[in-house]
Parts: sequence; C-alpha cells; structure tokens
Amino acid sequence: MTTYRTLDGLAVAGKRVLVRADLNVPLRDGRITDLTRLERLSTTIAELAGKGAKVIILSHFDRPNGQRVAAMSLRPVAEALGAVLARPVGFVDDCIGDHVAAAVAAMANGDVIVLENTRFHDGEEANDRALAALIALQGDLFVNDAFSAAHRAHATTEALARLLPSYAGRLMQAELDALNAALGTPQRPVGAIVGGSKVSTKLDLLTNLITKVDVLVIGGAMANTFLAAQGAELGKSLQEPSLHATARQIMHDAQAAGCTILLPSDFVVSTVFAANPPTRIVPADAVPTDCMALDLGPASIDAIIAAVHKLKTLIWNGPLGAFETKPFDTATMRLAAAVATATKAGLISVAGGGDTVAALKQAGITEQLTYVSSAGGAFLEWMEGKTLPGVAALAA
Ligand code: 3PG
Repeated sequence: MTTYRTLDGLAVAGKRVLVRADLNVPLRDGRITDLTRLERLSTTIAELAGKGAKVIILSHFDRPNGQRVAAMSLRPVAEALGAVLARPVGFVDDCIGDHVAAAVAAMANGDVIVLENTRFHDGEEANDRALAALIALQGDLFVNDAFSAAHRAHATTEALARLLPSYAGRLMQAELDALNAALGTPQRPVGAIVGGSKVSTKLDLLTNLITKVDVLVIGGAMANTFLAAQGAELGKSLQEPSLHATARQIMHDAQAAGCTILLPSDFVVSTVFAANPPTRIVPADAVPTDCMALDLGPASIDAIIAAVHKLKTLIWNGPLGAFETKPFDTATMRLAAAVATATKAGLISVAGGGDTVAALKQAGITEQLTYVSSAGGAFLEWMEGKTLPGVAALAA
C-alpha cells in the first residue's frame, strides 16, 4: 500500500494551505441535488481552519475543456460549501493570477476561500507543470482531499503534489484506509459483488478481483453474459455474445486462482421492461424466448445472502437488477438490507460507484455500511488494481 503523510501533527497555523477538493457536485436547474461531497469535505476544512490555516480550495467542476463556461463556475458551489461549513467561504474568479494573490494576501488565519474551476485552464487536464507552478505560488502546503479525482493525472491532482509538501486530507485518508481494509490486506474470507449491465466495462475489474477475493458474486445483466457463455437460454435478455469466450476465460482463471464465482440460479423475467409489468420467476438457464431477465430471483438472492453471511469482508459495486424500475429493485434492496445486518454483526463492508450509492440510498442503509465511497471512476479504477496518479503523487 502507498504510504502518505496525513494531517496528524501538521503545524498549519498561519500557513497558506492549498486543498484539492472534489466540488464536482450534481447540479440540476442551478441547484445542487446532493451535498454528500461537500459534507464529507467539511472535516478537513474545519480541521485546517480550526488550527489557523488559510484554506485555499481548488477543484474542477464538470468538463469545460479549458474554456471559461459560465454554467460551470464554482461560485454557487462555494456558497453551498459555506452553508455546509456554517462559516463564510470566499470566492475568487480564477485559480491563478493577481486577483488570487491579492485575495490570499488579504486572508486571516482560519479563513476559507474557493478558487474558480481549475479546468477553465487547459493546463489542468494536461497536467501542466507550469500551471501547477503558478498555483503553487499561493500555497505553503498542499493537501489532497479529492480521492474521487485521484484517477486523473491533472495539474492540481498530480503536478502540484510534487511542487509543495503534500498531505492526504481526512476524506482521502478515510477512502484509502477503507479501500485498503477491503482489498489491500482484508480479513478473510473476502468477497466481492459486482453488478451492472456490461461485462465490457468491467473486464479489468473482474480480472483483478478474481486474484484478490475468495468469492465473486456476479449480478446484473453482466451475469447473463456469463450464463449464456455456458449455453444457458437467455431469451431477449441483455447480454454480450462477443464476450462469451472472455467470460469463459474469467471463469477458468477464477477457478485456477481459488476464487468461487457465484452466478444467479433464477431470474425475474418479463416480456417488457416497464414499471410493474406481469412477471415470472424462471430458472437462470431457461428464460423464455419472448422474455428478458430484469432482476435476480429469490433462490439467487438467498444464495448470495448466505454467502455474504460467511464473509468477513465485502466489497460491492453495481446493482443486481434493474433497480430503478419496480419491482426489479427487489434483489438489490434485499441484498442491501442483508449487508447492513451482516455489518452490524461484524462484516467489513465497503461499497462504491454511482449506481451502487444510489441503490444504497434507496434502501436507506448508506450509514449502516462500514464505508461508502464518494468516488465513481476513481473507485472503479482502484478496484481494477490501477495506480491512481493523485494517490501516487502523495507517496511519502
Ligand atoms: C467524478 O465526479 O467522478 C470526479 O469529480 C471526476 O470527474 P471527471 O470524470 O470529469 O474527471
């Protein structure tokens, strides 16, 4: 595991601390629809400001491609952050230049400001050292609290960390600790549940997981491809015929690695994908030709829950069925409840990824897992076993 410095024992009073945050929050009609990222960031900001640092926050927002796009300004997000922190948060309309220098020079100890979207400069995504050097002029120390952007080698996630004394913020630290507990040095047996629709988007993840976990549960439409690869009749179900050989290879490699793959034994099927249509439960190898699998059936869920109860550590990414459409949320909701119960009994449970977080929220059990990552792409790349540039750059 990469070792990195944390905020423990760091003297920050009077220091200008550049904090790379991930303020890339979901926005609809100009309103932030989910404050989770801001809430989770608040620990680091409150700690630094409380210790008398001058906190200067850097972040990207959306994908403006190096242009100044008014709708992608961080100004409203800075306001929302102020409300979450319950303290004044200033805003400067650029991340480099005289305006920034003047604003930073005027800061008192404990002040917090947000600088404008770093992606308004094309040097950000190019990991441009010159841009990072201009930003570094405004700081004495660098704290990266943006695990969810750590899969990007950008100027404020990578280059900047190499120009100033660098530290992991509390959110970054919590993510890394949780992920290390789940896949780095896990208590065994360790299992993974991977759902979602396409094997093609999760090939690297499956290939890595079979070398790390004792049990791999495959759900969602991905499971269809694995079943079809073994000759199962899947009717109209979503699956990827071009990946049958790959699926068989993964099954073979898993066996060689001592990893048990658990596939569904039954499905809830319908002739149409719509809310509350007529449904049937059928064996997973005999979906009628006019039907499609839309959720796992009760025998499959029972088997998965039984497997979960035997684990000491679980990592979960991806729903088991088409959970946004009722009643095809049943398997995912039952699993969520079971994971919450098992966690109470001692299971270390870590989940992440956009759909999974949404499903846990729908189940109302987000707080009951050991850790739910706020990262999407970074969580997946980490599960794939990839080195995250933003984390690597923090290596002590
Ligand atoms: C995210 O929301 O996953 C991060 O903020 C990264 O955003 P990006 O995919 O635009 O780099």
